[in-house]
Amino acid sequence: MKITETERLILRTLEVNDLDALMDIWGSDEVMKYCGGAGTREQELRSLQYYIDMQKERGFSSYLVIHKDTLKVLGVCGFNPPHEEYDAELMYHFAKPHWGKGYAKEAAKGCLAYAKEKLGLRRIGAFVDPKNTASKRILEKNGFRFIGKKWFEDTKQDELCFELELERPGE
Ligand SMILES: CC(C)(COP(=O)(O)OP(=O)(O)OC[C@H]1O[C@@H](n2cnc3c(N)ncnc32)[C@H](O)[C@@H]1OP(=O)(O)O)[C@@H](O)C(=O)NCCC(=O)NCCS
Repeated sequence: MKITETERLILRTLEVNDLDALMDIWGSDEVMKYCGGAGTREQELRSLQYYIDMQKERGFSSYLVIHKDTLKVLGVCGFNPPHEEYDAELMYHFAKPHWGKGYAKEAAKGCLAYAKEKLGLRRIGAFVDPKNTASKRILEKNGFRFIGKKWFEDTKQDELCFELELERPGE
């Protein structure tokens, strides 16, 4: 199901047969360097199923990002479930050959507009490895505010915490 589109991109819900394309992303050590490392095909099938179920249960999830002209899969962008005081957590992972072309910034912008207008989400959080300069830029470019560092038990380090308040029309 198509979720939204931007100037160059289409975002649609994930499907089980996206696994091959996703392995270029979630199966890549380089892409997943700051996101818990690459997974095996079995692990990523479970991740994929998790996002498919999340879409059914919550009405939002992470989405496949496709180039409008070439129809190539560029990445994944969207949301993880509510976390602490946040309605959702923004995420984005793009295949290495497609870095540096503004796709992540554009996809994040499209997801955030969709979250605001169609999902009614209000507060979005994002948590970034301090060494992940590219990811920090995506957040800053989309209006996120740095609120401080926080210890994460799963990564065993301080992560940078960002948040964005999405105002609803009329507020
Ligand atoms: C983070 C990631 C999504 C960025 O994707 P991208 O499509 O290359 O980013 P964009 O081209 O939209 O760049 C957005 C901004 O960040 C800047 N940027 C991109 N990569 C950068 C880098 N390595 N160092 C510094 N700035 C960088 C761009 O110059 C751009 O800024 P500008 O608008 O001022 O020119 C991509 O590198 C990626 O998939 N990384 C691995 C997964 C990941 O770390 N995800 C996030 C946390 S889990």
